[in-house]
Amino acid sequence: MTTASEFLIIGHRGAAGLAPENTLPSFRKALELGVDAIELDVYSIEGELLVFHDDTLDRTTNGTGEIQAQSLTSLRELDAGQGARVPLLEEVLDLVDGQVLVNIELKGPDTAEPVAARLGDWPSTRFLVSSFYHGELTRFHQLAPAVPTAPLFSKTHARMFDIAESLNAWSINLSRRITSSNLLAEIRRRGYRSLIYTVNDPEMARHLAADGASGIFTDYPDRCGRAALGL
Ligand code: G3P
Ligand code: MG
Repeated sequence: MTTASEFLIIGHRGAAGLAPENTLPSFRKALELGVDAIELDVYSIEGELLVFHDDTLDRTTNGTGEIQAQSLTSLRELDAGQGARVPLLEEVLDLVDGQVLVNIELKGPDTAEPVAARLGDWPSTRFLVSSFYHGELTRFHQLAPAVPTAPLFSKTHARMFDIAESLNAWSINLSRRITSSNLLAEIRRRGYRSLIYTVNDPEMARHLAADGASGIFTDYPDRCGRAALGL
């Protein structure tokens, strides 16, 4: 059983169910709702870090095509929902201003180096850097060994704990689809936290807390917030 104060409520892409995902309004909403942390995804474009999830523009903006085929200028002109722009990482970090933990997910290629190079500019912000791309995350860990890391897993992986150990991981971040009581117990036994994505059902969130998970990523930090969960 995870105690309530340990169980982290992480706003997924800000508050993606309540405002356009990965935009400043979404992060503002998550902060208003009292999250413990926000999660965001980054791509590196022309040396700048852009906060964006997909490898194409179509689902979340009025643009089309691959993000990496566009210029930074044209990406910054897009409407990412309700008139919001695709933010730079630095704009989000300035907004957060150290109020909560920031989980940066390395989504695009070649993001380890620019992220490692920039985080020192926000000395009062606590970071967790994660990725499904364990090679990119390893590169980040080599460049910034003091910054906590978390490998992400969408499927069970025979080398899960080898990967976590090589990163000296702070947590192991898992899809709810592969989460089980046994796996959560094994993660704890080996000394890691477990953060579970994406949990939008309060009953599931309570069950995970009771089962010993360390926190959830949620699109709805209102209905899956600490108060709503009774934690
Ligand atoms: O980091 C948790 C979660 O964000 C991973 O999946 O696809 O939403 O980036 P995705
Ligand atoms: Mg993500």
